[in-house]
Amino acid sequence: MMTREIRWGDMRGIRKFEHVHELPDDYRDFLVRLLWVQADTEFASVQQHRPWLDTAPSFEDRWIEARIIADEMRHGWQMIKLLEDFGEEGRFYINDLFNRKEHQHKLDSFNMDFDTWEDVAAFACLVDRVGMFQLRSFQECSYAPLARAIPLMITEENLHIGAGRNALNRIANDPAYYGDKTMAQAAVDKWYPRALDMFGHSGSAGSEMAVSLGIKRWRNEEARKMYVEEVAPILEKMGLVAPEETANRRIL
Ligand SMILES: [Fe+2]
Ligand SMILES: [Fe+2]
Repeated sequence: MMTREIRWGDMRGIRKFEHVHELPDDYRDFLVRLLWVQADTEFASVQQHRPWLDTAPSFEDRWIEARIIADEMRHGWQMIKLLEDFGEEGRFYINDLFNRKEHQHKLDSFNMDFDTWEDVAAFACLVDRVGMFQLRSFQECSYAPLARAIPLMITEENLHIGAGRNALNRIANDPAYYGDKTMAQAAVDKWYPRALDMFGHSGSAGSEMAVSLGIKRWRNEEARKMYVEEVAPILEKMGLVAPEETANRRIL
């Protein structure tokens, strides 16, 4: 359901913002950087997936890789369209995004290479799932043009997460496929801490502000807790285990 009014935070009940010109200064500064980081993750994913387009272990996997690459590129492009509304400042960030190479991205998860197919599977199952929490957090947000972009992105992100879960499960449990349970668990151990880091610092002032401005629905630690609760039974069903929440973490 899409509403015209801001749903939560300090401005709850007033009409959503439709254009950058209407935004309070702190809101504008926060939003432009948020769109920049979001776009950066999308374009980084394209670079990470690219080597697997014609090397994934089955033609179905290659087709899914092609879908994921097209979707991530579209998500990035959608963020670019939103950044264009910020005028000169937006163009600065667009130019930055256009020139960012592999390993120059904002978040650690997007600077790690997909060395193995189990990396690709664990990334899609665990890291794209964080992306989904982020999108759900923006759903119905107070900046209407962003709110309108979210439903299609969520639908596409669901495919990535489902494909990742399916591939990881097959690696762990299907002897006719590729890999084995030890390889699947090693990939989980590698990506899970980076996925948890992506939610950001607990008690972050920026996260508190994003909620009060009606941009994000949840604080960092609230979303991270929901994620941990969602992932544990999914891994358990595959005969895998989620690492300790604090193990190998960089951002707490
Ligand atoms: Fe995406
Ligand atoms: Fe994705």
